[in-house]
Amino acid sequence: MEKRFDGRKFDELREIEVKVGILSACDGSAMFRIGNTIAIAGAFGPRECHPKHLQDPEKAILKCHYDMMTFSVPERKSPGPGRREIELSSVIRRALTPAIFLEEFPKTSIDVFIQIMQADAGTRCASICAASLALAEAGIPMRDLVSAVGVGKVNGKLVLDLTKEEEDTEGAVDMPIAIMPGKKKITLLQMDGKLSRDELEEAIKLGVKGCLQIYEIQKKALKEKYKVR
Ligand code: CDP
Repeated sequence: MEKRFDGRKFDELREIEVKVGILSACDGSAMFRIGNTIAIAGAFGPRECHPKHLQDPEKAILKCHYDMMTFSVPERKSPGPGRREIELSSVIRRALTPAIFLEEFPKTSIDVFIQIMQADAGTRCASICAASLALAEAGIPMRDLVSAVGVGKVNGKLVLDLTKEEEDTEGAVDMPIAIMPGKKKITLLQMDGKLSRDELEEAIKLGVKGCLQIYEIQKKALKEKYKVR
């Protein structure tokens, strides 16, 4: 196999489109599209945390709500978050938490709502990219943006940014990675399947390379929002 199903090189990302500030009802919002995967995120806060028993006197709490539109996948998704969506909300929250100065806002909550409009693999990574931009636009103090992408192994080759078709290939390995690029810190690393130690190191390098490309696109989209016209 020299090329991938969609003709991409092994280390090539899908086409990316990013828009910041798309929803006026939110403090911050963003759309992140990578190939046929589209995530929209809206952020609120810091604001008084309700119910009060969830308040942390030491810091803000971050709440993430991930869900998919019923029409986002070929087989209709039943409305409302199920087990998978609750798990992914927690994964996304953990990937974003290190980037936010939560300690500056005791007793408050910061809320991020993410909807997947269309899914073709990599929705948790697209969600993290969209959410970090929404948080930034909301003016929430952050150490860095968070950039994320899927890496994996398909037909024996390490590949960047898997599609659903690639993920469904027999024996495929899927490894989502998120980083704070400026801080050079990994905030999420998961793996579905098995890689050797050498492959894992290569896969991390490939993922970091992809994240750095995404970071540039995220920064450009954020600056675009504040461009003086
Ligand atoms: O989306 P992500 O790779 O982060 O998470 P996943 O749970 O591994 O899902 C992989 C892909 O399966 C999604 O991106 C969708 O394309 C697809 N999927 C689906 O077709 N129907 C669902 N109910 C859930 C996921």
